[in-house]
Amino acid sequence: MTTPLGSTDNPLQVAIVGAGPAGFYAASTLLRTSDRAVAVDLYERLPTPWGLVRFGVAPDHPKIKSVSRVFERTAHLTGFRFLGNVEVGRDVEAAELASAYDAVIYAVGAATDRGLGIPGEELPGSVAATEFVAWYNGHPDYADRSYDFSQPRAVVIGNGNVALDVARMLALSPAELAGTDVATHALDALRSSRIREIVVLGRRGPLQAAFTNPELRELADLELADVIVDPADLELDEAGAVALADASATARANLETLRQFAQQPPRGKLRRIVLRFLSSPLQITGNGKVESLLICHNALVPDAGGVLRAEPLPQRERLETGLVLRSVGYAGVPLAGVPFDERRHTIPNEQGRVLDPVTRTPLPGIYTTGWSKRGPSGVIGTNKRCAQETVGLLLDDLGAGRLPAQTPAQTQTPRPAQTPARTPDELIAALRARGVTIVDYGGWEAIDARERELGAAGGQPRVKLVDRDELLAWAIGKR
Ligand SMILES: Cc1cc2nc3c(=O)[nH]c(=O)nc-3n(C[C@H](O)[C@H](O)[C@H](O)COP(=O)(O)OP(=O)(O)OC[C@H]3O[C@@H](n4cnc5c(N)ncnc54)[C@H](O)[C@@H]3O)c2cc1C
Ligand SMILES: NC(=O)c1ccc[n+]([C@@H]2O[C@H](COP(=O)([O-])OP(=O)(O)OC[C@H]3O[C@@H](n4cnc5c(N)ncnc54)[C@H](OP(=O)(O)O)[C@@H]3O)[C@@H](O)[C@H]2O)c1
Repeated sequence: MTTPLGSTDNPLQVAIVGAGPAGFYAASTLLRTSDRAVAVDLYERLPTPWGLVRFGVAPDHPKIKSVSRVFERTAHLTGFRFLGNVEVGRDVEAAELASAYDAVIYAVGAATDRGLGIPGEELPGSVAATEFVAWYNGHPDYADRSYDFSQPRAVVIGNGNVALDVARMLALSPAELAGTDVATHALDALRSSRIREIVVLGRRGPLQAAFTNPELRELADLELADVIVDPADLELDEAGAVALADASATARANLETLRQFAQQPPRGKLRRIVLRFLSSPLQITGNGKVESLLICHNALVPDAGGVLRAEPLPQRERLETGLVLRSVGYAGVPLAGVPFDERRHTIPNEQGRVLDPVTRTPLPGIYTTGWSKRGPSGVIGTNKRCAQETVGLLLDDLGAGRLPAQTPAQTQTPRPAQTPARTPDELIAALRARGVTIVDYGGWEAIDARERELGAAGGQPRVKLVDRDELLAWAIGKR
């Protein structure tokens, strides 16, 4: 008689792909709350863990980044292994994971930007916030980028929290930036910035902005920047007044904060952040690089479902600028061998069970969580509930005998011939034999210690290593 899956002699072996918040919350739920014996291997394409907590959250928000301490505790639980510097789809196939593990959870986030779809978007000087954020946070894939901060005006398109992060980063003084873990290349470039005005463009009105109130209020504390709001932009038309009656507490608080900004006379600071509403980008123009942005003014018009949409008015305006930062949301990218919903840019799923794109039925043993499951919205904590939902379904499937290892071979999806069944340890040995340098958790701790040591010398929490070879050298103890 075979020992039941999930017992001490036959632990449930789960591969999680992606070491961001969603991956770590899934690992924690599996290892802490399940009454089954579970082993988790967490695969990550970068040599470092934490996903957007390291490469997204703004450097001047260290308290938010400290959530990594929660993940560190998970990494030290029995049954947990970190396999950094292994990219699924490049170093290991999705089918290989499916054959070596009882279940695979994809927590791969949303790596790219949503396009604006306007002419001139590709001109040098038109930059996706995804890329700019990764650059100032020291993501190794973006460390070699450079941006032109020599012009007086930058325009940020979008009205979410990322747009405010980007605007703030352009406005912070060198002194405010210096005590953070901002990448050294970004600190050097921003130190000599000549940007004086940062215009943030929202296509809808102040009540429809996606940013949250503490993030908006924080702008008032900037050492070097006044916050400018035109009171006329806050006047509500008929549709706006209806929206106010139904507005969320956040939207009301935002309107109140914006009214305070509008009443506050500028203090003559070096820089200004100008928050504008009901304005959409139409075209980016320039001779070989961005020189101006054509915008239109909008009115709010309810759609068939009653949602207020931005409708263009005839009024046009040209903003002279050499730097346009497009912050209109992130988007997932397809992963070879894993279903992908081209419309939503996510992995198609039902509450976390990945669906076969043709039959729309769950693929046994394959799950998703976090931004690759829900799309690119929600704060760090949102991924905890999301991971609990996914892991709950995985454990339900285990309990009901629905995982591939529990079902008769003839009912399972046939494996491609080139993916022989292996144990996780055999798969990891095969990866090493292929020349993949795997960074284990001790390797990350060596990187972490080095970064903190470098930071301590200059009063920073850490100095990030941004070169992959250097990261790997520290991880495998060659330095
Ligand atoms: C700029 C920005 C700032 C933010 N600031 C805040 C904030 O201040 N407070 C807050 O609460 N929330 C913030 N958020 C939201 C928060 O970061 C997200 O909710 C959260 O990171 C999503 O978690 P995730 O694990 O789904 O994705 P991610 O954090 O993106 O993690 C996905 C991981 O998967 C890895 N991966 C991708 N593909 C592969 C592959 N093929 N193989 C192996 N690994 C792979 C990636 O390298 C990454 O490490 C911010 C988001 C952004 C974009
Ligand atoms: N400090 C924090 O807590 C923090 C920091 C950063 C990020 N986050 C979270 O991370 C998630 C992602 O943030 P995000 O800012 O990338 O996304 P977001 O909150 O979805 O905001 C996207 C913004 O882009 C606008 N937009 C979309 N398409 C547009 C277009 N074609 N033209 C003009 N504007 C357009 C949207 O306007 P419409 O509303 O009109 O569509 C919206 O204002 C959010 O949940 C956010 O709260 C949190």
